[in-house]
Amino acid sequence: MDDNGIRRVCIIGASGRLGQYMVAHALDRGYEVVGVCRERSVGKLQAFADRITIVPGDTNDRRVIRTAVAGCDGILTVLVPWGVRQYSSGTAQAVLDFADPNARLVFSCGWHVPRDENDRYPWATRMANSVVTRVMRALRVIDVEDQLDAARRIFASDSRWTVVRGSDLEEGESQGLPVWSRHVGDPILASNRTRRTDYALFMLEALTDDALIREAPAIVGRLTPSALAHAG
Ligand SMILES: NC(=O)c1ccc[n+]([C@@H]2O[C@H](COP(=O)([O-])OP(=O)(O)OC[C@H]3O[C@@H](n4cnc5c(N)ncnc54)[C@H](OP(=O)(O)O)[C@@H]3O)[C@@H](O)[C@H]2O)c1
Repeated sequence: MDDNGIRRVCIIGASGRLGQYMVAHALDRGYEVVGVCRERSVGKLQAFADRITIVPGDTNDRRVIRTAVAGCDGILTVLVPWGVRQYSSGTAQAVLDFADPNARLVFSCGWHVPRDENDRYPWATRMANSVVTRVMRALRVIDVEDQLDAARRIFASDSRWTVVRGSDLEEGESQGLPVWSRHVGDPILASNRTRRTDYALFMLEALTDDALIREAPAIVGRLTPSALAHAG
């Protein structure tokens, strides 16, 4: 257990790109890791197989989540809106229901998830999001509204949560811990780029940063032009 009380972490969505970076960062910190991923994706975690416990299953399967989060001090959840069967909200609700009340819960999503009325989106972005949301739902591919519902459930919870809202992501060497703002639309975020490995770093860092409890930081790469121009 580290100084901030984190010993065992569960990573829900461990086999994805963000998930695998989070597994690597968690192991680097000496945490015990439990990873949840779909049965078909277990092979993607092969490189970590002898160092982590894998719980196969859909992330919105309540029995899977109940088993995986037992005894975990921190839970890192990749929220994704796949399909039209409450994948995001089901995942978030299961985590909220079964996590230890004192556990640190950190969820990922994108800037498109608003925290409050202080988040500002350009008109063109709102229109584009609205069209994409309706088309993708009609095609039954993704349900962004369900991801928004997931976030609302988290925001309403008394648990020790953080919702990390990512910019567009890219691969590449780490630039260090991203900078963040409370509000989408803040000039510091204008570059809209974060290295995926650094997004994972921020998720891990949030586990032990009590200043982020019940915050929904919108993040951007620390070496991006907007971050360099506006960071204090
Ligand atoms: N991509 C971006 O530019 C971007 C921008 C802002 C925020 N974000 C946020 O960052 C997080 C990670 O995004 P990412 O782009 O890096 O994705 P990712 O980590 O590569 O994959 C996300 C997850 O989706 C799962 N998944 C894929 N297809 C699925 C399906 N049909 N049904 C159920 N699960 C499925 C993957 O599991 P498997 O391994 O089983 O396939 C994986 O756990 C998300 O919370 C996203 O909202 C992404």
